[in-house]
Amino acid sequence: MADERLIVALDFHTFDDVKKLVDTLGDSVTFYKVGMELFYSVGAGVVEWLKAQEKKIFLDLKLHDIPNTVAGGLCSLMNLGANILNVHAAGGFTMMKTAAEALGKEAALRGVERPKLIAITVLTSIAQAEWCGALKISEQVVDFAKQAQAAGLDGVVASPQEAKLIREACGENFLIVTPGIRPAGADINDQQRISTPRAALQNGATHLVIGRPIRAAANPRDAALKILNEMRGI
Ligand code: C5P
Repeated sequence: MADERLIVALDFHTFDDVKKLVDTLGDSVTFYKVGMELFYSVGAGVVEWLKAQEKKIFLDLKLHDIPNTVAGGLCSLMNLGANILNVHAAGGFTMMKTAAEALGKEAALRGVERPKLIAITVLTSIAQAEWCGALKISEQVVDFAKQAQAAGLDGVVASPQEAKLIREACGENFLIVTPGIRPAGADINDQQRISTPRAALQNGATHLVIGRPIRAAANPRDAALKILNEMRGI
């Protein structure tokens, strides 16, 4: 079975591109991320199609609104059967708690498994130089992670560089999904808050979201296999 810690980002505009990549990657990849670019252009059908291919889905729509609206939105999304849904931690503790509770109740009512719910901490694209929060980015990330855990969420999305602090603060059994991953040998600049697969996993990441290094490779399957090889044994 493929290593489900690797989540390949399907940042495409067309269904054809999705089918081509998923077909090329074949059984080497099980988990895919559907984000706003794809969902807004292709619609919910892509999630249903991935499920029919027996793939797992992280539906990365980053909900951020008042508690009632986010809870309702998540319950609607739950119909699609994605494995992971997410909200912005910046929406607040009450929003996260309301969302987690609503999702749990709705899943119980329908007799289905509740999808995992995780929170975006601080976008990995924000570097310290452009950050204007009162806390340091890393402190804010850990604070968001603790709030998400207390609100009943299953984990967070965070930069791989903050994974270690989150793991220390939130213990085992807490999902840490890290984008901003570049294969060993790529130009890793600390300011960009990115890491290699090995470093991210060693720091406590449970899942690695990787897009362009696989999608843009001349041979995406080879690129994925190389990354999976780097992940082996960690
Ligand atoms: O950069 P890459 O193509 O690997 O990005 C894969 C996914 O990770 C994107 O869909 C984006 O949502 C997320 N990402 C991120 N922070 C970055 C780079 C990418 O959250 N610095």
